[in-house]
Amino acid sequence: MSYKEIFSYKDIVEKELERRVSEKNAPEILKKAMLYSLSAGGKRIRPCLMLEFYRCLGFEPKEILNFACAVEMIHTYSLIHDDLPCMDDDDMRRGKPSNHKVFGEDNALLAGDALLTLAFETACDIDKNIKPDRAVKAVKYIADAAGLTKMVGGQVLDLAAENKQVSIKELERIQEGKTVAMLKVNAYVACTLAGADEKTTKLYVEYCENIGRAFQIRDDILDVIGDEKNLGKPIGSDEQMNKNTYVSLLGLEKSQQLVDKLTESAILAIKSATDDNEDLCLLALKLANRDY
Ligand code: IPE
Ligand code: IPE
Ligand code: MG
Ligand code: MG
Ligand code: MG
Repeated sequence: MSYKEIFSYKDIVEKELERRVSEKNAPEILKKAMLYSLSAGGKRIRPCLMLEFYRCLGFEPKEILNFACAVEMIHTYSLIHDDLPCMDDDDMRRGKPSNHKVFGEDNALLAGDALLTLAFETACDIDKNIKPDRAVKAVKYIADAAGLTKMVGGQVLDLAAENKQVSIKELERIQEGKTVAMLKVNAYVACTLAGADEKTTKLYVEYCENIGRAFQIRDDILDVIGDEKNLGKPIGSDEQMNKNTYVSLLGLEKSQQLVDKLTESAILAIKSATDDNEDLCLLALKLANRDY
Protein backbone atom coordinates (compact mmCIF):
# COMPACT_ATOMS: atom_id res chain seq x y z
CA MET A 1 0.00 0.00 0.00
CA SER A 2 1.39 3.41 -0.95
CA TYR A 3 1.47 6.45 1.34
CA LYS A 4 -1.13 8.03 -0.90
CA GLU A 5 -3.47 5.10 -0.36
CA ILE A 6 -3.23 5.47 3.42
CA PHE A 7 -4.07 9.18 3.42
CA SER A 8 -5.88 11.09 0.73
CA TYR A 9 -4.47 14.49 1.70
CA LYS A 10 -1.39 14.41 -0.51
CA ASP A 11 -3.06 15.98 -3.56
CA ILE A 12 -4.63 18.94 -1.77
CA VAL A 13 -1.36 19.63 0.03
CA GLU A 14 0.60 19.56 -3.22
CA LYS A 15 -1.87 21.80 -5.06
CA GLU A 16 -1.80 24.31 -2.24
CA LEU A 17 2.00 24.31 -1.99
CA GLU A 18 2.21 25.04 -5.69
CA ARG A 19 -0.42 27.77 -5.54
CA ARG A 20 1.27 29.52 -2.65
CA VAL A 21 4.49 29.95 -4.63
CA SER A 22 3.06 30.41 -8.14
CA GLU A 23 0.80 33.31 -7.17
CA LYS A 24 3.72 35.40 -5.93
CA ASN A 25 5.26 38.22 -7.87
CA ALA A 26 8.89 37.18 -7.38
CA PRO A 27 11.94 36.54 -9.57
CA GLU A 28 11.13 33.66 -11.92
CA ILE A 29 14.36 31.81 -11.15
CA LEU A 30 13.56 31.84 -7.44
CA LYS A 31 10.02 30.57 -7.95
CA LYS A 32 11.33 27.91 -10.30
CA ALA A 33 13.91 26.73 -7.75
CA MET A 34 11.29 26.63 -4.96
CA LEU A 35 8.75 24.77 -7.10
CA TYR A 36 11.42 22.38 -8.36
CA SER A 37 11.93 20.93 -4.87
CA LEU A 38 8.37 21.38 -3.62
CA SER A 39 6.89 19.56 -6.61
CA ALA A 40 9.50 16.84 -6.75
CA GLY A 41 7.35 14.39 -4.84
CA GLY A 42 8.23 13.35 -1.33
CA LYS A 43 6.08 11.34 0.97
CA ARG A 44 4.38 14.35 2.62
CA ILE A 45 4.32 12.45 5.90
CA ARG A 46 4.39 15.58 8.05
CA PRO A 47 1.41 17.47 6.58
CA CYS A 48 -0.58 14.22 6.27
CA LEU A 49 -0.02 13.49 9.94
CA MET A 50 -1.17 16.94 10.98
CA LEU A 51 -4.33 16.77 8.88
CA GLU A 52 -5.14 13.25 10.04
CA PHE A 53 -4.69 14.13 13.72
CA TYR A 54 -7.03 17.08 13.30
CA ARG A 55 -9.62 14.85 11.62
CA CYS A 56 -9.29 12.28 14.42
CA LEU A 57 -9.92 15.09 16.89
CA GLY A 58 -13.24 15.73 15.19
CA PHE A 59 -12.49 18.66 12.88
CA GLU A 60 -12.32 19.42 9.17
CA PRO A 61 -8.70 18.99 7.96
CA LYS A 62 -9.02 21.73 5.32
CA GLU A 63 -9.26 24.33 8.12
CA ILE A 64 -5.60 23.80 8.90
CA LEU A 65 -4.21 23.22 5.40
CA ASN A 66 -2.12 26.38 5.75
CA PHE A 67 -0.33 24.96 8.81
CA ALA A 68 0.23 21.62 7.10
CA CYS A 69 1.75 23.38 4.08
CA ALA A 70 3.94 25.51 6.32
CA VAL A 71 5.48 22.40 7.87
CA GLU A 72 6.10 20.83 4.46
CA MET A 73 7.73 24.05 3.20
CA ILE A 74 10.09 24.04 6.18
CA HIS A 75 10.88 20.37 5.65
CA THR A 76 11.59 20.95 1.95
CA TYR A 77 13.86 23.89 2.72
CA SER A 78 15.73 21.74 5.23
CA LEU A 79 16.33 19.11 2.53
CA ILE A 80 17.61 21.68 0.01
CA HIS A 81 20.11 22.98 2.54
CA ASP A 82 20.95 19.48 3.83
CA ASP A 83 22.11 18.48 0.33
CA LEU A 84 24.42 21.47 -0.16
CA PRO A 85 28.15 20.77 -0.50
CA CYS A 86 28.77 22.51 2.84
CA MET A 87 26.43 20.01 4.52
CA ASP A 88 25.86 16.43 3.26
CA ASP A 89 26.94 17.16 -0.31
CA ASP A 90 24.33 14.96 -1.98
CA ASP A 91 23.53 15.20 -5.68
CA MET A 92 20.10 13.53 -5.78
CA ARG A 93 16.89 14.25 -3.88
CA ARG A 94 13.34 13.07 -4.43
CA GLY A 95 14.44 11.27 -7.58
CA LYS A 96 15.94 14.31 -9.26
CA PRO A 97 19.25 16.18 -9.18
CA SER A 98 19.49 18.18 -5.93
CA ASN A 99 18.38 21.79 -6.07
CA HIS A 100 21.90 23.23 -6.10
CA LYS A 101 22.87 20.93 -8.98
CA VAL A 102 20.23 22.58 -11.14
CA PHE A 103 20.03 26.14 -9.84
CA GLY A 104 23.48 26.63 -8.30
CA GLU A 105 24.39 26.88 -4.63
CA ASP A 106 23.43 30.54 -4.45
CA ASN A 107 19.88 30.02 -5.69
CA ALA A 108 19.46 26.80 -3.70
CA LEU A 109 20.39 28.63 -0.52
CA LEU A 110 17.98 31.45 -1.31
CA ALA A 111 15.17 29.09 -2.39
CA GLY A 112 15.53 27.49 1.06
CA ASP A 113 15.43 30.88 2.76
CA ALA A 114 12.34 31.87 0.79
CA LEU A 115 10.56 28.60 1.65
CA LEU A 116 11.26 29.13 5.33
CA THR A 117 9.85 32.65 5.33
CA LEU A 118 6.90 31.71 3.10
CA ALA A 119 6.11 28.96 5.61
CA PHE A 120 5.45 31.50 8.33
CA GLU A 121 3.48 33.79 6.03
CA THR A 122 1.37 30.74 5.09
CA ALA A 123 0.89 29.65 8.70
CA CYS A 124 -0.40 33.11 9.59
CA ASP A 125 -3.13 32.97 6.94
CA ILE A 126 -5.58 31.44 9.37
CA ASP A 127 -9.00 30.04 8.54
CA LYS A 128 -12.01 31.87 9.95
CA ASN A 129 -12.91 28.87 12.12
CA ILE A 130 -9.57 28.88 13.92
CA LYS A 131 -9.27 30.79 17.16
CA PRO A 132 -6.50 33.41 16.81
CA ASP A 133 -4.95 32.70 20.23
CA ARG A 134 -4.63 29.02 19.33
CA ALA A 135 -3.13 29.96 15.96
CA VAL A 136 -0.46 32.09 17.62
CA LYS A 137 0.43 29.17 19.87
CA ALA A 138 0.62 26.84 16.87
CA VAL A 139 2.92 29.21 14.95
CA LYS A 140 5.19 29.33 17.99
CA TYR A 141 5.33 25.52 18.09
CA ILE A 142 6.41 25.48 14.44
CA ALA A 143 9.09 28.13 14.99
CA ASP A 144 10.39 26.21 17.98
CA ALA A 145 10.52 22.87 16.13
CA ALA A 146 12.28 24.36 13.12
CA GLY A 147 14.69 26.49 15.08
CA LEU A 148 17.90 26.57 17.00
CA THR A 149 17.01 24.21 19.81
CA LYS A 150 15.43 21.57 17.53
CA MET A 151 15.80 21.10 13.74
CA VAL A 152 18.55 23.60 12.99
CA GLY A 153 20.29 22.77 16.26
CA GLY A 154 20.15 19.07 15.41
CA GLN A 155 21.66 19.71 11.99
CA VAL A 156 24.51 21.61 13.65
CA LEU A 157 25.15 18.71 16.03
CA ASP A 158 24.93 16.22 13.16
CA LEU A 159 27.64 18.08 11.25
CA ALA A 160 29.78 18.61 14.34
CA ALA A 161 29.72 14.84 15.01
CA GLU A 162 31.17 13.94 11.59
CA ASN A 163 34.49 12.11 11.85
CA LYS A 164 34.10 11.34 15.54
CA GLN A 165 32.17 8.76 17.47
CA VAL A 166 29.34 9.85 19.73
CA SER A 167 27.38 7.86 22.33
CA ILE A 168 23.87 6.53 21.72
CA LYS A 169 22.61 9.24 24.07
CA GLU A 170 24.25 11.95 21.99
CA LEU A 171 22.98 10.40 18.77
CA GLU A 172 19.46 10.41 20.22
CA ARG A 173 19.82 14.11 20.91
CA ILE A 174 20.99 14.77 17.35
CA GLN A 175 18.10 12.84 15.84
CA GLU A 176 15.53 14.30 18.23
CA GLY A 177 16.60 17.70 16.92
CA LYS A 178 17.10 17.15 13.24
CA THR A 179 14.15 14.81 12.61
CA VAL A 180 11.84 13.99 15.52
CA ALA A 181 10.92 17.59 16.33
CA MET A 182 9.46 18.25 12.87
CA LEU A 183 7.32 15.13 13.26
CA LYS A 184 6.19 15.92 16.80
CA VAL A 185 5.19 19.43 15.84
CA ASN A 186 2.30 18.03 13.78
CA ALA A 187 0.74 16.65 16.93
CA TYR A 188 1.30 19.86 18.87
CA VAL A 189 -0.20 21.99 16.11
CA ALA A 190 -3.23 19.77 15.44
CA CYS A 191 -3.99 19.37 19.16
CA THR A 192 -3.52 23.07 19.90
CA LEU A 193 -5.78 24.16 17.04
CA ALA A 194 -8.39 21.58 18.05
CA GLY A 195 -8.26 22.65 21.68
CA ALA A 196 -7.39 19.09 22.79
CA ASP A 197 -6.72 18.48 26.48
CA GLU A 198 -3.26 17.81 27.88
CA LYS A 199 -3.71 14.06 28.21
CA THR A 200 -4.84 13.61 24.61
CA THR A 201 -2.08 15.87 23.30
CA LYS A 202 0.50 13.85 25.17
CA LEU A 203 -0.64 10.64 23.46
CA TYR A 204 -0.52 12.11 19.94
CA VAL A 205 2.92 13.54 20.71
CA GLU A 206 4.04 10.15 22.02
CA TYR A 207 2.94 8.52 18.77
CA CYS A 208 4.98 11.08 16.81
CA GLU A 209 7.99 10.76 19.09
CA ASN A 210 8.08 7.02 18.48
CA ILE A 211 7.46 7.04 14.74
CA GLY A 212 9.88 9.97 14.48
CA ARG A 213 12.70 8.10 16.15
CA ALA A 214 11.93 4.99 14.12
CA PHE A 215 11.79 7.13 10.98
CA GLN A 216 15.34 8.43 11.30
CA ILE A 217 16.73 5.02 12.27
CA ARG A 218 15.05 3.48 9.22
CA ASP A 219 16.49 6.37 7.17
CA ASP A 220 19.95 5.42 8.47
CA ILE A 221 19.29 1.76 7.58
CA LEU A 222 18.13 2.67 4.08
CA ASP A 223 21.32 4.66 3.57
CA VAL A 224 23.04 1.25 3.76
CA ILE A 225 20.59 -1.28 2.32
CA GLY A 226 18.31 0.96 0.25
CA ASP A 227 17.97 1.21 -3.48
CA GLU A 228 18.78 4.64 -4.91
CA LYS A 229 16.02 4.46 -7.52
CA ASN A 230 13.37 3.69 -4.93
CA LEU A 231 14.70 6.13 -2.39
CA GLY A 232 15.29 8.96 -4.83
CA LYS A 233 18.49 9.91 -3.02
CA PRO A 234 22.01 8.49 -2.85
CA ILE A 235 22.89 5.61 -0.58
CA GLY A 236 26.22 5.31 1.20
CA SER A 237 26.17 9.03 1.90
CA ASP A 238 26.42 8.62 5.70
CA GLU A 239 29.45 6.38 5.51
CA GLN A 240 31.10 8.67 3.01
CA MET A 241 30.62 11.68 5.29
CA ASN A 242 31.59 9.68 8.39
CA LYS A 243 28.24 10.33 10.03
CA ASN A 244 27.12 8.87 13.30
CA THR A 245 24.01 6.80 12.70
CA TYR A 246 22.26 3.97 14.50
CA VAL A 247 23.70 1.60 11.94
CA SER A 248 27.26 2.80 12.56
CA LEU A 249 26.79 2.49 16.33
CA LEU A 250 24.58 -0.61 16.69
CA GLY A 251 24.65 -2.42 13.36
CA LEU A 252 21.76 -3.17 11.01
CA GLU A 253 20.00 -5.87 12.97
CA LYS A 254 19.82 -4.06 16.31
CA SER A 255 18.80 -0.88 14.54
CA GLN A 256 15.82 -2.56 12.88
CA GLN A 257 14.86 -4.20 16.20
CA LEU A 258 14.74 -0.73 17.71
CA VAL A 259 12.61 0.52 14.79
CA ASP A 260 10.13 -2.30 15.45
CA LYS A 261 10.05 -1.64 19.18
CA LEU A 262 9.45 2.07 18.68
CA THR A 263 6.71 1.27 16.17
CA GLU A 264 4.95 -0.91 18.73
CA SER A 265 5.08 1.92 21.25
CA ALA A 266 3.70 4.33 18.64
CA ILE A 267 0.78 2.01 17.97
CA LEU A 268 0.02 1.65 21.68
CA ALA A 269 0.01 5.43 22.08
CA ILE A 270 -2.29 6.15 19.15
CA LYS A 271 -4.68 3.39 20.22
CA SER A 272 -5.02 5.11 23.57
CA ALA A 273 -5.43 8.50 21.90
CA THR A 274 -8.28 7.63 19.55
CA ASP A 275 -10.44 4.73 18.41
CA ASP A 276 -10.16 6.12 14.91
CA ASN A 277 -6.59 4.86 14.70
CA GLU A 278 -6.59 2.42 11.81
CA ASP A 279 -4.78 4.57 9.24
CA LEU A 280 -2.25 5.89 11.75
CA CYS A 281 -1.44 2.32 12.82
CA LEU A 282 -1.06 1.34 9.16
CA LEU A 283 1.27 4.27 8.58
CA ALA A 284 3.46 3.40 11.56
CA LEU A 285 3.84 -0.17 10.28
CA LYS A 286 4.53 0.95 6.74
CA LEU A 287 7.20 3.40 7.88
CA ALA A 288 8.94 0.73 9.93
CA ASN A 289 9.49 -1.41 6.86
CA ARG A 290 9.60 1.28 4.22
CA ASP A 291 11.94 1.13 1.29
CA TYR A 292 11.47 4.83 0.44
C1 IPE B 1 14.11 12.92 4.76
O1 IPE B 1 12.76 13.07 5.08
C2 IPE B 1 14.95 13.55 5.82
C3 IPE B 1 14.82 12.93 7.14
C4 IPE B 1 14.36 13.56 8.14
C5 IPE B 1 15.22 11.55 7.34
P1 IPE B 1 11.63 12.28 4.27
O2 IPE B 1 12.04 10.85 4.12
O3 IPE B 1 10.31 12.56 4.87
O4 IPE B 1 11.73 12.97 2.84
P2 IPE B 1 10.62 13.20 1.73
O5 IPE B 1 9.84 14.40 2.17
O6 IPE B 1 9.78 11.98 1.62
O7 IPE B 1 11.41 13.49 0.49
C1 IPE C 1 18.21 15.19 7.40
O1 IPE C 1 18.80 14.02 7.85
C2 IPE C 1 17.43 15.90 8.43
C3 IPE C 1 17.01 17.23 7.93
C4 IPE C 1 17.02 17.60 6.69
C5 IPE C 1 16.55 18.18 8.90
P1 IPE C 1 19.61 13.20 6.75
O2 IPE C 1 20.75 13.99 6.24
O3 IPE C 1 19.86 11.83 7.25
O4 IPE C 1 18.49 13.12 5.61
P2 IPE C 1 18.73 12.51 4.15
O5 IPE C 1 19.18 11.09 4.34
O6 IPE C 1 19.75 13.37 3.48
O7 IPE C 1 17.36 12.60 3.55
MG1 MG D 1 21.97 15.52 7.00
MG1 MG E 1 21.39 14.29 4.19
MG1 MG F 1 19.83 10.08 5.93
